[in-house]
Amino acid sequence: MKLLAIETTCDETAAAVVTDQLEVLSSVVASQEKLHERFHGVVPEIAARAHLERILPVLEETLRRANCKLTDLDAIAVAYTPGLAGSLLVGVCAAKALCLSLGKPLVAVNHLHAHIYACRIAEKRDVFPCVGLIVSGGHSSLYDCPSPGDFEYLGGTIDDAAGEAFDKVANMLGLTYPGGPAVSKAALTGDPTRYAYPRPFLHDREKLDFSFSGLKTAVRYSLYGAGNPIAPESLEATQVSDVAASFQQAVVDCLVGKAELAMQRTGREQLCVGGGVAANRVLRDHLEALAQRCGFRLSIAPFELCTDNAVMGAIAFERFKAGKTESLELDAIPGLVRPTIL
Ligand code: KG4
Ligand code: ZN
Repeated sequence: MKLLAIETTCDETAAAVVTDQLEVLSSVVASQEKLHERFHGVVPEIAARAHLERILPVLEETLRRANCKLTDLDAIAVAYTPGLAGSLLVGVCAAKALCLSLGKPLVAVNHLHAHIYACRIAEKRDVFPCVGLIVSGGHSSLYDCPSPGDFEYLGGTIDDAAGEAFDKVANMLGLTYPGGPAVSKAALTGDPTRYAYPRPFLHDREKLDFSFSGLKTAVRYSLYGAGNPIAPESLEATQVSDVAASFQQAVVDCLVGKAELAMQRTGREQLCVGGGVAANRVLRDHLEALAQRCGFRLSIAPFELCTDNAVMGAIAFERFKAGKTESLELDAIPGLVRPTIL
């Protein structure tokens, strides 16, 4: 069986053709980084318009690379939640139009669940039941996942997502967008102990939540003091790398600490980690050390499946094989569906 998966939740226009053996026949990702760079974050209206321009060429290229015709497909899958409203609509409308014209079944994909499923695809073995940690530009959350169709929310950020904090701190440091890769590069030569930034909730064993907004403000105050404008040109190179390293360590400590608590609380033996921030080397190293120390299995999505892509939409096979398809009434749902089944 072959499935065409479409992903337009944020600022990547992506499509992939995947088989039910989780073989990737093609994967195309058209990034919009250059369009959003000067705003240091994703501008929803620009993202939606760019998706509209790119969706058809991306679909054509995906099918061409897979050497596959639309009529060869068994189903069309689309990420319908969560994400930016205008962005989601482009993918959902494209998928519904294809299904209507071809008479093919439509399968809905929850983007966050798909980030975890990236681990299943990469491992080529069953990773469920597991705890799922999703760390991206829009989300930082923990799920208990008994099966690929059953994700129970355990906790998550109450304000900024980890990736969002990386992007905003990069701006304070005069680094490029997206901030994650730039901050982690600057941190390579920095001292992670120079600035004692807060680690919200880390020692609260009741909560599996995160908060990165105060950490972001603490970084700003340590650089410029309260109430002063951002002026990266006034910073010295060692200050930039030390702040980057200290900030990165604070984020990593929070993510790793809560991942450990979630593993203890659920008693699961497998942790799966996905989302753009999972590309962070220091986070990966600390998670590996934690898994060794606690004796659980760890799967972190490979770099090409960390940031947004459509390959992870292969999670749709789990629903499709169980006979669960959607009507053409399927709508885009921007907010987090909680508690979530899909
Ligand atoms: O998963 P993703 O592509 O999009 C969302 O679903 O949000 O994640 C993008 C986020 C951005 O905030 C980016 O700064 C962050 O992932 N990111 C990183 C790294 N690479 C990307 N954050 C920390 N370290 C990295 N190496
Ligand atoms: Zn994502």
